[in-house]
This record gives sequence, structure tokens and C-alpha cells, in this order.
Amino acid sequence: MNDPSSMPPPCAGLRIGDIAPDFEARSTIGPVRLSAYRKRWLVLFSHPADFTPVCTTEFVALAREAEAFEDRDCALMALSVDSLFSHFAWLRMIRDRFGVEVRFPIVEDPTLVIGRAFGMVSPQDNDSATVRTTFFIDPQGVIRAMTCYPANLGRSVPEMLRILDGLQAIDERHALAPANWQPGEPMLAAPSHNLDEVYAAKDITGWFLRDNEGKA
Ligand code: BEZ
Repeated sequence: MNDPSSMPPPCAGLRIGDIAPDFEARSTIGPVRLSAYRKRWLVLFSHPADFTPVCTTEFVALAREAEAFEDRDCALMALSVDSLFSHFAWLRMIRDRFGVEVRFPIVEDPTLVIGRAFGMVSPQDNDSATVRTTFFIDPQGVIRAMTCYPANLGRSVPEMLRILDGLQAIDERHALAPANWQPGEPMLAAPSHNLDEVYAAKDITGWFLRDNEGKA
């Protein structure tokens, strides 16, 4: 059994509402600093390794949808333990094989210092590969949502865009996004905190389960 004091911190404890830890690192588009992305949305995501099947399909899918992220004023930034030169070779292969250029930065994190700060590395795992963690970071640098998938399950780009759309609509309309919400669909209003409104509601759900119409 490992000595717990020698193990990495358990998933760093980052939570929704935390400020994303800042870092500066080499990437495929030159040096990047996370805090330089403030004022825009940012999707920061880790992948286990370059030249692996699921990761390759994710990068092809994300590069093909890069404009959809731009349309939402959202930058993409990827990260793995592989070296910058491995990233370059992989992107060249993706371009030649799939006809798509990945232009968003892929950060190198050979010492895992960034992956550990974000809890992207499994502390129990002897493997240094990062898992498929995705952080949705708002223009103030606040983590607004995160997802974590295993190495053998690729992320859904439509779901990443839906999360972004949902977060942006929540902010713009001061509303709640119900299950399976899609852009253009009604949103929910926050429930009442006032007992008089509870009694005055026209039916038994009217005070807590109501759409946001007229409140946009
Ligand atoms: C993949 O991207 O295909 C992959 C990466 C690490 C482990 C297993 C699969």
C-alpha cells in the first residue's frame, strides 16, 4: 500500500464556483496563460494521450466544430502530459489523415503540475495520463461546470456546446435550464421564497415549477 503522505492530493478539490487556478505553459500556439483568456468563455479539457483512438476522434470532432465555439465567444484549450513535439506530430497526422487543422492550443504538461492542480490526474492511478476532464470557465475565470469521462468513452461535442449554451442562457435570462433543455426552448424561473406567493399560486406547483416567460 502507498504511503498516503507521498500520494498526490485527491483530485485537488476544485468545485463549481472556484476560480480556475492560473498557469503559464508551452502550447502548440506558443506560450499560453490561463488568465489571459478572461473576458471570454473557455473550455479547458484534458485528454489521456496523443496518438490514441478515442482522443483522435475527439480532436477531429472539436476542430470541425471550432467555429461553433467561436460563435459563442468561447476559446478551446487542451492539455495532456505529452510533449509539445508529440502534440505537433499528432496534429500533423490529424491534418493529413482527416483534413482538419487543430488551431486551438494543446498545452504540454510533462510534470503534471497543471493536471494535478485541476484534479485531472487520478491520484490512485499509477498511470500519469490525465482523464477526460472538461472545465467550463466563464469570462470572470470562474469554473461553472465540469465533466469527467473515463479514457474509453469519448466526449460529445453537441453536449459540450449545450452546456455552454445553457450556462450563457442562465446568465443572460436569469433563469434555470430544465432537463434536456436546448437553445430556443423555455427556461424555468427560480422558485418563490415567499409564503404569501406559495399560497397565492394558482395551482400546487405554480410557486416552484414555472417557466421564465416574461422574466427575460
Ligand atoms: C483513447 O483515447 O483511445 C485512449 C486513451 C487512453 C486509454 C485508452 C484509450
